[in-house]
Parts: sequence; C-alpha cells; structure tokens
Amino acid sequence: MALKIDTRYPSIDDLRKKAQKKIPKFAFEYLDGGCNEDVNLIRNTAELRDVQLKPNYLRKHSGSSQKTKLFGVEYDAPFGIAPVGLQGLMWPNSPEILAKAAFEHNIPFILSTVTTTSIERASELTEGKAWFQLYHPTEDRLRDDIIKRAEAAECPVLVILCDVPTFGFRPRDIRNGLAMPPKMSVKNILQVLGKPHWAMQTLKYGQPNFANLLPYMPKGLDLKQLGKFMDQTFSGRLNEEKIKPIRDMWKGKLVLKGVASEYDTEEAIRLGLDGIIVSNHGGRQLDAGESTVKPLSRIAEKYGDKIEVMVDSGLRSGPDVARAMASGAKFTFMGRSFMYGVSALGKQGGNHTISLLKTELQQVMEQLCCEKTSDFPEHLI
Ligand SMILES: Cc1cc2nc3c(=O)[nH]c(=O)nc-3n(C[C@H](O)[C@H](O)[C@H](O)COP(=O)(O)O)c2cc1C
Repeated sequence: MALKIDTRYPSIDDLRKKAQKKIPKFAFEYLDGGCNEDVNLIRNTAELRDVQLKPNYLRKHSGSSQKTKLFGVEYDAPFGIAPVGLQGLMWPNSPEILAKAAFEHNIPFILSTVTTTSIERASELTEGKAWFQLYHPTEDRLRDDIIKRAEAAECPVLVILCDVPTFGFRPRDIRNGLAMPPKMSVKNILQVLGKPHWAMQTLKYGQPNFANLLPYMPKGLDLKQLGKFMDQTFSGRLNEEKIKPIRDMWKGKLVLKGVASEYDTEEAIRLGLDGIIVSNHGGRQLDAGESTVKPLSRIAEKYGDKIEVMVDSGLRSGPDVARAMASGAKFTFMGRSFMYGVSALGKQGGNHTISLLKTELQQVMEQLCCEKTSDFPEHLI
C-alpha cells in the first residue's frame, strides 16, 4: 500500500492535539489518560526515549526492509494495532476504519472484547487476519462461546489479558461519569454540542455499543452498572486454572498480554503460550509500576529464545518502535497513537497514522544502516 501522509499532521502529537479539538472531553480524556496521577503513563514514553541507538554510516548498505515475521506470517512492518475498548466512543466506526487500514498495510490488528465492532465484522474486513483479545469470562459457557466465535471467524491469534485483575483507578473517567452509551448529563451534552463533526458521525453510525457482548448483556448500563456487569461477567484475575482450558481449546497461537515480570513470563512458557506482550496497559492500571522498556530488556534477554516477546505502552513514533526493537522486542504494538489518528482524521486516520509510522521507521533504519528488523539490537548503545 502506498504511503500517504497528510502534511498538516507529521507527528502523533499533532494528531493528539487535533483529536482533542475534535472529540468531546469525556471521550478524549478516556483515551488520553492513565491512572491515578499518570506517573506510569509519562514514564512509559520518557524512559523508552532514554534508549539510544548508534549508526554505522560506513557499513555496506543494500536497503532496509521493515518486513517482520511473527507466528509464521510476514507483516510489512514490526508494529500493530493494540486492542482498545469502547473505540466507537472516541470516533464512530473507528475499529472498522483501523481494521481495514491494518489489512491494507499488512500489519496486525487486535480487536478488544469490549470494543464496538464484533469479531465477525473485524474478520470480514481483514479476510480472517484480525487477532482477538479476550477478557476472561467467569462462566465457562460464555468463555467457550466467545472462543468458538473467534475460531469460526478464523482468528489466527487469541490474546488473553493478565493486567486487569482490578479496574484501573482513573480520576478523569470518574469525574466525567463515563458510561456506555455516553450518559447525557448537561455537562456531557455541552461537550457534544461543541464537537459537531463527532456528533454528526455518531448520529450517522448510531450509539456505540459492545458489539461482541450484545448477545449476553442487559441494555443501557451506566458506569456503575457497567462495572458491576463486567465484574460479574468477567474475571480479570488470570491463573493457571483459567489459562489451561483455553490453551487446550484454542488451536491457534495464544498470547498473554500485560506481562511485566519474569515470574509471569516463566508461567506463560510453562503453560504453553506462544507469545507475551510486555505491557502495562498504557499506564492505565498500576501507577507505581515500571515503564515497559525496563522489564522488556530483562525478559527478552532471558527468555527471548523460548517465547515470542512483544511490547506496547508509550510508543508514539518510528524512532520509538526502533528503540523498543533494539531493546529486545520481536514486535511492537500501539494503542493511543492509532486512536489519536482516527479521532483526528476520521476515515483517513488509519492510513495516515500507519503511513506516518512506516515512513519514520524507514528513515531510522536507513540512517542506522539497519537492513532487517532483527538487526535493531546491534544498534543499541
Ligand atoms: C482507551 C484505551 C482502552 C483500552 N482498552 C483495552 C482493552 O479493551 N483491552 C486490552 O487488552 N487493552 C486495552 N488497552 C490497552 C492497549 O491495548 C495497549 O496496551 C495500550 O494502549 C498501549 O499503550 P499506548 O496507548 O501508550 O500505545 C486500552 C488502552 C486505551 C488507551
């Protein structure tokens, strides 16, 4: 796919600023915020950017390719789109826009259980290439039903999540009374009136809803009721007992997301998982936690030959992807970067953001004289 960039937005930060202007405050703050005092959120990017790379200008260079193999599939770049919940709240139809763009650019797209497009629709848009992230259901019957749907949709990779044993404490969402569908308090109505394009698109596509869960949930829940439904329906705390039956049932690749310690990596290897995503949920769960680049380096060095080690949290540019790959990641993911893109630019946002990141990454690779993505660690200082 040809790379096409809107020259008004040559950085993720430009997209973030535009998104802030374009969507209601409650939606932007849900996307943008971390948890508690945002310490972990800020650390993720800041500490990743402490990673420095050295170029070899005089080395023979016969071209740089971003193509990266993961689980037997060759992708066009070493980054993919992380699962994000409630995407339709930030921009109507955004999971579909991103799934399509990911498919066209041949990069992975992960659909969240709690987003606003169904597994079946994501699979249709990506010709069966979309990955699926499963929030762990308390009831075995529901778990089996969702897994069977993912299997029927030919989903190649199932991602299970270990970093949500509790609901993150997010002061902005509490202040905003965030709800699904959005609760129309006077404050929220005023925010929506100030964002006519968002409001028109929302009218066009209808109220966002939990497309994957519709068959199982009561209608019109506010944040409190939603929390209760989620608590009753999903059990965030994963353990061996819960992972084993999934491993037995799921024939495709199985990935554990939210790993931030050697202990959890060893458990993932012991339980037969195929990969881990070193992640702290973009700083939305444990404000006192480490930035992901730190455990990434330790885990990749110790276990990188036993399990596929991927990473997310805090990446906002091509150089950030390079830094993460040089620190030992086989593959990287981003959540907010793509959501800023699509919230800022609507339908064009997916293509623009992927093109921007690919263009930036290509420049870094050529500048370093890094020919393959597996060579990044040679450039780590
Ligand atoms: C608004 C928002 C919603 C998210 N929802 C989910 C989710 O439903 N499932 C999940 O596994 N991760 C979820 N995440 C975490 C992302 O998958 C990813 O780990 C994180 O965004 C990476 O950090 P970054 O945003 O700095 O790139 C969410 C992140 C954000 C920002």
